[in-house]
Amino acid sequence: MNTLAQKKLLVGVTGGIAAYKSPELVRRLRERGADVRVVMTAAAREFITPLTLQAVSGWPVRADLFDPAAEAAMGHIELARWADAIVVAPATADFIARLAHGRADDLLSTVCLTTRSRLLVAPAMNQQMWAAAATQANVEILSRRGVRMLGPDAGPQACGEVGPGRLLEPDVLAAAIAGQFRAPRFAGVRVVVTAGPTREPIDPVRYITNRSSGKMGYAVAEAFAEAGAEVTLVSGPAGLPAPSGVALVRVETAEEMAAAVCAHMDGAQVFVGAAAVADYRAAEVASQKIKKTAEAMSLALIKTPDILASVARRTPRPFVVGFAAETEQLIENARKKLESKHLDMIAANDVSLTGLGFESERNALQVIWKTGEASLPAARKGELARDLVELIGERYFEKNRAENS
Ligand code: CTP
Repeated sequence: MNTLAQKKLLVGVTGGIAAYKSPELVRRLRERGADVRVVMTAAAREFITPLTLQAVSGWPVRADLFDPAAEAAMGHIELARWADAIVVAPATADFIARLAHGRADDLLSTVCLTTRSRLLVAPAMNQQMWAAAATQANVEILSRRGVRMLGPDAGPQACGEVGPGRLLEPDVLAAAIAGQFRAPRFAGVRVVVTAGPTREPIDPVRYITNRSSGKMGYAVAEAFAEAGAEVTLVSGPAGLPAPSGVALVRVETAEEMAAAVCAHMDGAQVFVGAAAVADYRAAEVASQKIKKTAEAMSLALIKTPDILASVARRTPRPFVVGFAAETEQLIENARKKLESKHLDMIAANDVSLTGLGFESERNALQVIWKTGEASLPAARKGELARDLVELIGERYFEKNRAENS
């Protein structure tokens, strides 16, 4: 279990229905050894009482910026300095907007603006509010500044709708918070990750693509960044915000992706090909929209460059991890790809299983390398990515040790 012993955590609670989970989170954090203080917004107090959070944290709860007694005991600047990390859970769409725009109109926003410690934000809101362009733009601003987003989770919501926007469960959240304090295993290591589908044009209005959402590759890039790596994510059109601490390069076609990867591989020690690169593209792209004239038509396709295989041929050779999406004979097919493309490791997923893989928040992976394999059971892509990065770390550092001895 990741420990939080001697860590000072300031938990910020904002006004959403998920605030009922905050006391449980405080308990989980204290179980891991953290010293926890709580700051609530005015709206949060409409959902849960300060007394509850005082009871579970063991400290009086702070709520007002202009509270003379509390300010005399520990002023808001001191509070911001005291914390090793500030965790806002739940963070409403309104609070995320205020944070993105640097507001300091209550105690919690002021402390967040003042702190030099890490800022962790666990969003919780209706799924439409989460998907709204304004919220996504605010999340992108925060991610670019190095604020870590924890979640949201997807599933049934208090409002009766289903989708992404749920607060992560307290135990998952506590584990993710503890993970932020793990020694950065990949410090000083440069990693390039590909993600998402590619889009191969046919004419000015049509293209060939696939069902990849990009979520797995983005989660892998974020997990590497959390582990201290310097990460470049080359992504096809996925419509996802840049993960915290990751340099995002957006491309459309397989050829653009190949060129972007080539441009960023110099000095990179690890490559992970999580993109669902189109294997074929139109042999000729029509300059005008193709008209429907004949009863039937055929489209000539030609192979795209195999990015993964060409990275594996580079010298010096990086540690190369591929993905394999299969609908049958998962292990056999993945093992063949491991060998034919000269990979160090391959993560295979069965895309025929409903609720897992493509377009889903969850996935399960069978990870294979020359001398072994491991099963990573169904989990949210964020958690799975962290486990995969752990496994890659074990093999990568073992290989380095062997090569240097
Ligand atoms: N890949 C790549 N460049 C391509 C095609 C695939 O880098 N032009 C990478 C993917 O990112 C993934 C792995 O190769 O890591 C997938 O291997 P591939 O043989 O393309 O798998 P499938 O497309 O599933 O192959 P097939 O259709 O033959 O099963």
